[in-house]
Amino acid sequence: MKAAIGYMIKSLGGILPETALILGSGLGDLADGLEGEVRIPYADLEGVPESGVSGHAGEFLAGYLNHVPVAILSGRMHYYEEGNATAMRPLLEALKAIGIKRLIATNSAGSLREDMPPGSIMMVTDHINWSGKNPLIGEASDDRFVDMTTAYDEPMMNIFRAKAARMDLTLNEGVYMWFSGPSFETPAEIRAARLLGADAVGMSTVPEIILARFLGLQCVAFSVITNFGAGMTTAELTHSQTKNVAPIGGKLLSELITNSITELAK
Ligand code: HPA
Repeated sequence: MKAAIGYMIKSLGGILPETALILGSGLGDLADGLEGEVRIPYADLEGVPESGVSGHAGEFLAGYLNHVPVAILSGRMHYYEEGNATAMRPLLEALKAIGIKRLIATNSAGSLREDMPPGSIMMVTDHINWSGKNPLIGEASDDRFVDMTTAYDEPMMNIFRAKAARMDLTLNEGVYMWFSGPSFETPAEIRAARLLGADAVGMSTVPEIILARFLGLQCVAFSVITNFGAGMTTAELTHSQTKNVAPIGGKLLSELITNSITELAK
């Protein structure tokens, strides 16, 4: 039987997270370090569309990461599943309802930079949404006019920068460009994206960041690079490659987030 968001709140018991993570394709391992966790499949949450993408588990978790209470959305709904840019809204609203103040979104992405090969991680400092889609289309309130100037939170990014330096971890930074998918980009689209100033391309995250900013959450996002953009090499682009390569950068990202979480939650 499907349960409402109230069920999610009740299931938390004494766990009171203020930080939430969204885990993308092949990045489910990030949840492995979680202790004392609560797990609710999205299928049990009323109003939450199910994700049908392989590599996305589709469940809500809560527990302690490095002794800090966190909520995790393991698996996300993508625009390309049903043509719905607001698919993540019920889950993000639920996060807000349980007291979440900050969001860490993760994704797999194609690199547009030769110096950022598969296995690298990139902190998203800004994004380009030229898709013509926006999850706030149809939102009636004036709150829909969200300022995106500081969508990616500088103080949070500074914590990650400092931690990565202490870990001797190369943390690339760059602009993520959202393409709707599910087909990969063409080589011409990749050349255009590079000209526009993008450093990585992907099929997620941007709608969630817009919604999260609408809800007043502080945001950061990370891309795990699984391949070079179409046409940059002769390699064929496949989803299985995304799933297989993501855990490499995912492991580094997991360490970075785990090591930063205490400071973030201060
Ligand atoms: N393009 C779009 N999305 C992606 C890619 C890509 O090359 N790699 C992983 N996700």
